[in-house]
Amino acid sequence: MKHVLVIGASGQIGSELTMKLRDCYGNENVVAGYIPTAELKGELKESGPSAVVDVTDAAGIAAVVREYQVDTIYNLAALLSVVAESKPKLAWKIGIDGLWNVLEVAREQGCAVFTPSSIGSFGVSTPHVKTPQDTIQRPCSMYGVTKVTTELLSDYYFNRYGVDTRSVRFPGIISNVTPPGGGTTDYAVDIYYSAVKGEKFVCPIARGTFMDMMYMPDALNASIMLMEADPAKLVHRNAFNIASMSFEPDMIFQTIKKRLPAFEMSYEVDHLKQCIADSWPDCLDDTCAREEWGWNPAYDLESMTTDMLEKLSMRLR
Ligand code: SER
Repeated sequence: MKHVLVIGASGQIGSELTMKLRDCYGNENVVAGYIPTAELKGELKESGPSAVVDVTDAAGIAAVVREYQVDTIYNLAALLSVVAESKPKLAWKIGIDGLWNVLEVAREQGCAVFTPSSIGSFGVSTPHVKTPQDTIQRPCSMYGVTKVTTELLSDYYFNRYGVDTRSVRFPGIISNVTPPGGGTTDYAVDIYYSAVKGEKFVCPIARGTFMDMMYMPDALNASIMLMEADPAKLVHRNAFNIASMSFEPDMIFQTIKKRLPAFEMSYEVDHLKQCIADSWPDCLDDTCAREEWGWNPAYDLESMTTDMLEKLSMRLR
């Protein structure tokens, strides 16, 4: 049985991943690591062990890993792309100094490590359509700089020390539980909240801007499937392209409007978000993930929209 630590358990992905891991491995075997400014709540807090884990505090991580005999760390501590542009030094401190701490603890105590990369690890010089697994990665954002470094450092620890590091390049993640904070792809979450509340949505991303997106259940499955994959079959490690849907703002708007005909949207483009979005791929080629560990998403834009509207309506109305 695995003993897992989730760092960043109160965040957008961490809050749902912790619960899913508890379903897979037993509540008592998954420690929710959080920082005091982002306390755990409700079921997340009550269903299993938790501990204060600040990714910038190496000794603190080591102590928790030792206490709970952790063998697998999901390191989700990071700032999203827009916030990282306003706090580049902090983005580096959390994303890279923090990763260094996690990898060192993993090396000393024999843990496997999952630290997500992102579509943000690509830049304007990357082929934007069907972006290959191995291609140019010259991002212009600090978020992207930290994600490319994450991939390189994780591979370095695997090649040099044999630390079992694995990762995916997440697209924009859409969920109805914990909202994202300060990402370029957040509009694709916010639009559902506006639709369900009966409000007009003002879209910060220009019509025609395609980006890869993914529904949270697929993102969680990808993370766990990859960490469970047979290492003998992995040609790549850090990090796999994964994809399930690619759309531009008008497509998600029309998909919602089919179900809620009164819904309206206008555009007020945010310059920073648009610059970042324009530098990211339109859609990734995820053949390697499919071939090396059986990646196969369950949701497309239609099925995600049906589920998002149903779940949010139950919660918000
Ligand atoms: N969702 C992230 C962001 O927009 C991209 O991985 O910053």
